[in-house]
Amino acid sequence: MLLLNKVHACLSAFALLLLTQEPVSTSEFTDCGDTDNFPTVDPPANIEITDPGFLGYISIHWTRPASLQNLTGCSVRYQLRYYDTYEERWRSVRTAKLTYTAQFDLEKPIKVRMLTVLKCACTNGTEVQGEETEWVYAPEPTGVAGSRIRDFHCVYYGKEYMECTWDSGPVIPPNSQHYLYYWHREMDETKECPEYIILSEGRRGCRFPQKSLLEFSKFNLCVNGSSPAGNLKTAYFSIEVQNHVKPEVVSSVHVSEIDGELKLDWSPPSGQVPEHCLEYEVESSTTMKNGKEKKENTVIQNLEDTSYGVPKETESQKTCFRIRSKVNMYCADEGFWSDWSQAECTAEDNEKTQYLSLVGLVVIGIAGVILLCLLIWILKQTCIKKMNKKDALYTLYKEKVNETMPNILSPIFK
Ligand SMILES: *[C@@H]1O[C@H](CO)[C@@H](O)[C@H](O)[C@H]1NC(C)=O
Ligand SMILES: *[C@@H]1O[C@H](CO)[C@@H](O)[C@H](O)[C@H]1NC(C)=O
Ligand SMILES: *[C@@H]1O[C@H](CO)[C@@H](O)[C@H](O)[C@H]1NC(C)=O
Repeated sequence: MLLLNKVHACLSAFALLLLTQEPVSTSEFTDCGDTDNFPTVDPPANIEITDPGFLGYISIHWTRPASLQNLTGCSVRYQLRYYDTYEERWRSVRTAKLTYTAQFDLEKPIKVRMLTVLKCACTNGTEVQGEETEWVYAPEPTGVAGSRIRDFHCVYYGKEYMECTWDSGPVIPPNSQHYLYYWHREMDETKECPEYIILSEGRRGCRFPQKSLLEFSKFNLCVNGSSPAGNLKTAYFSIEVQNHVKPEVVSSVHVSEIDGELKLDWSPPSGQVPEHCLEYEVESSTTMKNGKEKKENTVIQNLEDTSYGVPKETESQKTCFRIRSKVNMYCADEGFWSDWSQAECTAEDNEKTQYLSLVGLVVIGIAGVILLCLLIWILKQTCIKKMNKKDALYTLYKEKVNETMPNILSPIFK
């Protein structure tokens, strides 16, 4: 892209030159021979595909074809088409340079097609294209069959750290060990994973701190491995880390009800995702008075808006909200939704009356208990008084009896 821009800029500069300094350029465009003698426009020569070891960032070099070596008065450019195995389509560039670098999937054959484009004075400024030729570069497949890892994916959590995880291939040679290597354009060479995620079955992921990542640039990865039975098949990946962001959970969600409107406020999730890069999805589920449930989802893309209002439905009994967030289209091509926040609900409409009656019941209950206690206490008091009277009578009586009664009868009165 950068290269294309540069080429474009060069071309515009060149055009400007033609416009402003016409005498010079016409004298330059004279030596083309007559049209019968026009050279055959051969494709570029000595095409070479070199792998500098950056996990798929491949350089293609070529030279000017011998037949056009001594040609003057013409501009020579090269059209390069290559098969983009990620997007499964041919991409096309034109350049006056003798080299081009692009990202390829090293697990697939590299297909390049090239031709030469001539623009000369004697062709009245129209382009003459040569024949196109194709080069295919297929690296020898190596490694134990079926040992390539599966389900590789990367999540950049809150733009704070990235985790890439994988499963082993269907074939796991005994005592095999996995390795992850990565590269981006600010690195001179590939590096091994800074911190492996190790499960009971071995290395199954890699954790990258933020400082090891580079956004808006190819981030190339490979997972290979070794075992006593031979190397494992290497898997190659190329991602752009800003497209793998998963924001943290939205916290501090607050629901309020003002003048028949339900209002929701929240704070942006913690983490390093800038506030203006977030969009939100609000899910509301309303329980109606007739017992029916109503669910609604709304995506909020207004930048830096962290509130949402909705008129309260008259027949609603209770509404609960959940929020999640994602990086918006202004900051990345794609991303992952965060997990849902905890649900926040409005107070239930008949909850208030229920609450009141509950309070009433409790008050009545307490009053009843107090009354009962009082009653028991009064009863007890009167009983004790009676007893006391009875006791007094008894002793008085006993005294009298003891004086007059014979001893044989005394046990009856004990
Ligand atoms: C180009 O010029 C060189 C020296 O001037 C000569 O040796 C060579 O044969 C020429 N090549 C062609 C294709 O005419
Ligand atoms: C080029 O242009 C000239 C006049 O401007 C015309 O006479 C000539 O036929 C053209 N040649 C070709 C190949 O188009
Ligand atoms: C894994 O890939 C890295 C980077 O290309 C390379 O240096 C290393 O030798 C490879 N290891 C195995 C076991 O294939």
